[in-house]
Amino acid sequence: MTTAEQQPQPVRQSPDSASPRPLALITGVGRTVGIGAGIATGPSFTAEQLPLLEEHGVMADATSMEQFDEFCTGRPGKAVGLRLRVPLPKSLHNIATFGSGSRFGAFATDARLKEILDRTGCRLTRLHTHTGQMSPQHLTYKARYLLAVAEAYPSIEEIDLGGGFFALYADREQAKLAWASVAADLDDFERRTGRRIRILVEPGAAILSFHGYLLATVRSAEHGHPSFQADVLTVDASAWNFSPWHKPQFIPLAPRHENEVLRPTLIAGETLYEHDFFGADSLGPRHPVPLPGMNRGDRIVITTSGAYTMTNSRNFNRLPLPQEYVYASGQIERI
Ligand SMILES: Cc1ncc(COP(=O)(O)O)c(C=O)c1O
Repeated sequence: MTTAEQQPQPVRQSPDSASPRPLALITGVGRTVGIGAGIATGPSFTAEQLPLLEEHGVMADATSMEQFDEFCTGRPGKAVGLRLRVPLPKSLHNIATFGSGSRFGAFATDARLKEILDRTGCRLTRLHTHTGQMSPQHLTYKARYLLAVAEAYPSIEEIDLGGGFFALYADREQAKLAWASVAADLDDFERRTGRRIRILVEPGAAILSFHGYLLATVRSAEHGHPSFQADVLTVDASAWNFSPWHKPQFIPLAPRHENEVLRPTLIAGETLYEHDFFGADSLGPRHPVPLPGMNRGDRIVITTSGAYTMTNSRNFNRLPLPQEYVYASGQIERI
């Protein structure tokens, strides 16, 4: 539970880490809650941080050829991981997928890869990917592609498929079939090469984003905004600051009436940013939701808040983040 009554910094992170800062949370807090060794990847990691990461059982996978060069040159002879760009065919591409068009990762065909490995004596042991939301076909294609790369590099021991499990599990049966196909490809790989490859996954949103509720209060209500053609309710929390691309549901806390008239409504955040709206797409479009007429002081619960979104937080306008509470063993605790 998160309320718009404010503050301290949140502590929430899965064992895969996108930068050194959340990694400090994993290696500190993570240990106390039983999270094991992690994997890290992100442009902000530097070669100097690698020994400390290693001390905590974490290997950072490079996310560009330049970073890969830096990691290998700084630590010759070591095991290294690399995030790959997977060239997905057009038929698997949509707005939520990132194949060749990703700004992260390197192409397996980049000639510098072999040159760097030869020069530094490093061993490429892990292929790391994240290609956005995966359909069952996307998963099977990607696994096959990565196994083909692993065949070309005999030192590879692990393939990290990244996250993006929302779309995959939209149809559970199809998801299971896709995993069965991946298992068959792995068996086939093992039979042909005599090598075993460990498959890793990093689901984020699919596990966490449903959890967490924001309790917010309407600060101002403009009924019938002439341009938005919706009521605009500005609440005492900011989507832009901690929930910029999530799709919540909105539950008014006022008593509901059988014949109440629902009005198209947009829930806006309290920053001075024009695009600070809850439930807007990451590329901007807003979607009014039908809600009963609400006024200043009314309270509303916004789902999909906190558990996954707080790691996205920023403090635009220096607004404090919501205070978080956790419900455990029948008790509500401030965290
Ligand atoms: C490398 C990597 N792994 C895993 C994830 C988690 O993705 P999701 O929350 O869609 O499961 C991300 C998200 O950006 C990522 O960049």
